[in-house]
Amino acid sequence: MTQASPARMYDALLGGSHNFEVDRFAAEAGKKLVPDLPRLALSNRAFLRRAVRFLADQGIRQFLDIGSGIPTAGNVHEVAQSFDPGIRVLYVDIDPVAVTHARTILVGNEQADAIQADLRKPDELLVRAADTGLIDFTEPVGLLLVAVLHLLQDDERPAETVAALREAVPPGSYVAISHLTSAQRPEDAARLGDHSANESHVGIRFRDRASITALFTGWELVEPGVVELPQWRPESERDLHESPGRSLGLAGVGYRV
Ligand SMILES: C[S@@+](CC[C@H](N)C(=O)[O-])C[C@H]1O[C@@H](n2cnc3c(N)ncnc32)[C@H](O)[C@@H]1O
Repeated sequence: MTQASPARMYDALLGGSHNFEVDRFAAEAGKKLVPDLPRLALSNRAFLRRAVRFLADQGIRQFLDIGSGIPTAGNVHEVAQSFDPGIRVLYVDIDPVAVTHARTILVGNEQADAIQADLRKPDELLVRAADTGLIDFTEPVGLLLVAVLHLLQDDERPAETVAALREAVPPGSYVAISHLTSAQRPEDAARLGDHSANESHVGIRFRDRASITALFTGWELVEPGVVELPQWRPESERDLHESPGRSLGLAGVGYRV
């Protein structure tokens, strides 16, 4: 493996074992620039868990998790199915390593599966998701776009992609989004952005608050709106991995009216 991948770098940051030397090297280089990077990853995972519980509590019984990554502690199906064992989860990732690992841990789970598809081709992805039989697009869907849209470049039109997904789900659906940002610590964001483009060749776009808020166009934003990762409905002290004003991630949840 000669090229780092976002899925495996993120796994390395979270202390997982499904990564190669090139991914660990890239993660370590990122940590040299911004030492609290692992806290950011933990903060993002904690947001994901809270968002899934919130959506399940609102009655969502099927989740489409796009850019799901390599399975790690507190996976979506574990959180959702501990709430209600009948909840269905479809994981989607572009990275074959992530999909293979997800499939391995899902053996025997009739209510969850993983497919390889590309968020940049939403129409194709939606057809593939429907073909699995796990996602019924006539019922409300919990769309998860967690830490993935910053991997789409501006000319890959992330806002249009979210809009295409919104059009495919019925009223009563939700979307949960987290996104790396330049809103806090702009110098650290610029350093990491440059490093990702020039050294690890992953190409992360740290967007400003207005661009991230614009991703929710057409959705009704759930309180407290678009906020730093730990500030989205924290449940306990354990959710506060980063101090206010320090998170390099923004997050929010939208409702399809
Ligand atoms: C940082 S990980 C996030 C994992 C998980 N959503 C989380 O927040 O814990 C980003 C994931 O998005 C995937 N990804 C990147 N570009 C993608 C695309 N165009 N389509 C689908 N998945 C993509 C990567 O392979 C990676 O697994």
